[in-house]
Formats: sequence, C-alpha cells, structure tokens
Amino acid sequence: MLRELRVPGPTPLPPQVQEALARPMINHRGREFRELHQQVRAKLQQVTGLPHEVFLLTASGTGGLEAAICNCIRPGDRVLALVTGHFGQRFAAIARRYGALVECLRFPPGQAVDQAAVSLELDRAHYDAVLLTHCETSTGVLNDVGAISRLIAARPKPPALLVDAVSSLGAVRIEADPLPDIIVTASQKAWMTPPGLSMVFVSSEIWPRIEANPSPRYYLDLVAARRYGERGETPWTPALPLIYGLDAALDLILAEGSTAFCDRHQRLARRLRAGLRSLGLVILPAEKDASPTVTAAWLPQGVQYDAFAAELRERFGVELAGGQDELKNRIFRIGHMGHIYEENVEYLLSAIGDVLHTGARGKE
Ligand SMILES: Cc1ncc(COP(=O)(O)O)c(C=O)c1O
Repeated sequence: MLRELRVPGPTPLPPQVQEALARPMINHRGREFRELHQQVRAKLQQVTGLPHEVFLLTASGTGGLEAAICNCIRPGDRVLALVTGHFGQRFAAIARRYGALVECLRFPPGQAVDQAAVSLELDRAHYDAVLLTHCETSTGVLNDVGAISRLIAARPKPPALLVDAVSSLGAVRIEADPLPDIIVTASQKAWMTPPGLSMVFVSSEIWPRIEANPSPRYYLDLVAARRYGERGETPWTPALPLIYGLDAALDLILAEGSTAFCDRHQRLARRLRAGLRSLGLVILPAEKDASPTVTAAWLPQGVQYDAFAAELRERFGVELAGGQDELKNRIFRIGHMGHIYEENVEYLLSAIGDVLHTGARGKE
C-alpha cells in the first residue's frame, strides 16, 4: 500500500483538503463563488507576500507557463532563457513556439544559474524578456530570483522577468527588488491540492505590455481573466472542487503561519539532505543552491533506478521519482512539499537506507 507519495507533485492531500474537494457544486456566476474566489486570491497574496494580481487558471503548471508567454511575449521578441534543467528547457520551448527569438544560457545538471554569465549575456545583447525557473524540479536546484532580478533591473531598458515557481512558491518566499513581472505556480505542489489549477501572479507594471500584445490567445487570455476578475468571476467555468481544496489548504498554511510553513520546508530539506549524505549519497546541487522542496541525489554505482524504486514501493510503500532526459537512471528525486513532517522524512531515510544496503545494491 502507498504510504509515502514523495514524487515532486502531485503531493499528498491533508484530510481537510480531501473533505473540501467533496463539497457540493455552486453557481460559478453567483455571489457565493465570487466571495470564495476573491477570498482565495487574497489568501494567495497573503501567503506569498506578493502584491501581484493573481489568476486561477484551470490548467496544470505548463498551462500557467504558456499563459505567461502568450500574454507577455510578442512574436519576434528577444528572450533569454536561463536553463538549469528539464523545466527551464520547457519554458524556452513554449516561448519559441510563440515566435520568440530564444537564446538559452544552459548550466550543467545540479548547477544554479551563474550570475556572471547572465550579466555578460545581458551586456552582449538586448533582451525583451528573461525566463527563469525558481526551483528546477529535475535537479533540485533553487535559483536566486533576487540576484537575477537585480542584474536585470540594472540595465538601461530592463527586460521583463518571468519566473516558473511551480514547485517552490508557497514553501519558498520570492524576495526580490523589483519583484518578477510574472510568477507561475501550480496546485499539486506545495499547495497540497490536486493537479489542475495554475496560479499566475501578474505585476501591475507588466499590464500595458500584456494589453498591447498582438499574440493570439483565447482560453489563456489574462486580459479576459482580469476583466472577469474585477467582478469576482473567471471567464470560463472554474474548477470548483480544486478551488474549494485550495481554500482549505491556504487556511492550513495561514494557521501554521506562512513563515513557519517555509521554515518547516527548510528544516525538513536540510535533515533529508544530511540523512542522505550519511547514507553515502551525493546530492546534485551544492548545499547553498539546494531547494527546500525537491531533492535529487546521484544513484550509487551499480544501483538501477527501476529496481531501487520498485523495492521502495513494494517493501515500504514509498513512491519516488527518477531522473529525466540525460539524468534518467542516474539520479532519483524526492518531493518534500506541503503535507510532510519530521516523521515522514525519518521514515523515508530509513527505507532508502534499508533498500540501498540490503536490497537494490545486493542484487547487482
Ligand atoms: C518547475 C516546474 N515547471 C513546470 C512544471 C509543469 O507543471 P505541470 O506538470 O503541472 O504542467 C513542473 C511540474 O513538475 C515543474 O516542476
């Protein structure tokens, strides 16, 4: 039986969220929904500390990233994509699909964005926008949004900064001056809600650019979302159960305290990394670049991911994730977001230790 779902999303649901998901449907054009919607948007601002307007899109995280691109990027725009792994690559691919001229600055797996390289590139060429992944879920790297934002702001004509914070926001604060123009997150990560909602935070400064953008978009049009949002509605039928669930999850975060929620993620992630190291494992990023929400470690010599994962699943009910792209069968990844506590981390560590020392390795 599955005891520990520790893939980097979807994450386990607290009982309060599960109950909220089963609430009866309401009229999405009625007062009750308008109040719920406004309340959820306000709580998202409260939890993140972000002053941005926030939109709830019925879409997974990729839909939120696509909304960021199709609303902000014009065909022919010069876009600098800072790529630290699989998800940075995806953000760049979406921009390319919408006609942007995309230049990628790539960093090796486990490395964070190198600020000196970004600075050189911004000196070399003018860009209309920069794409950055906050937590690169494929490697467990947390990029420094504040540092990149400062580099950008120092340019005479600063490009827009669009941030994929799908697997970090809520559990990690974004502290930057100026704050990014767009920040995207998704319900199935630190938000302890099932997949299907993307929350897109939009700064007031970027609106003129969005409104003047001729790029075609319909379902993901943020201008329409804003117009409906002014009267508390969404342009299209919203995913009501997910909004109920998110509301319950936000209440849990607020009851714990949004800072305490972030601190718990930091503490558990440090304990997890220290425990993995004491099992002889090597974590991909350096400690200073490690994310509080996702950890990736190299598989020891001779350990096959499929055998390792199957044994964890069958003997301990633990579900982890493997590597993507060139990291397939070279690493394993653990999601530690939202509904996770000390005892879960200790259980994970003892299960991994057991499998590595008696199981997967013994079958070489
Ligand atoms: C950093 C990051 N960006 C984007 C995505 C894509 O989100 P989704 O699978 O919800 O479309 C993910 C999902 O794991 C992610 O971790």
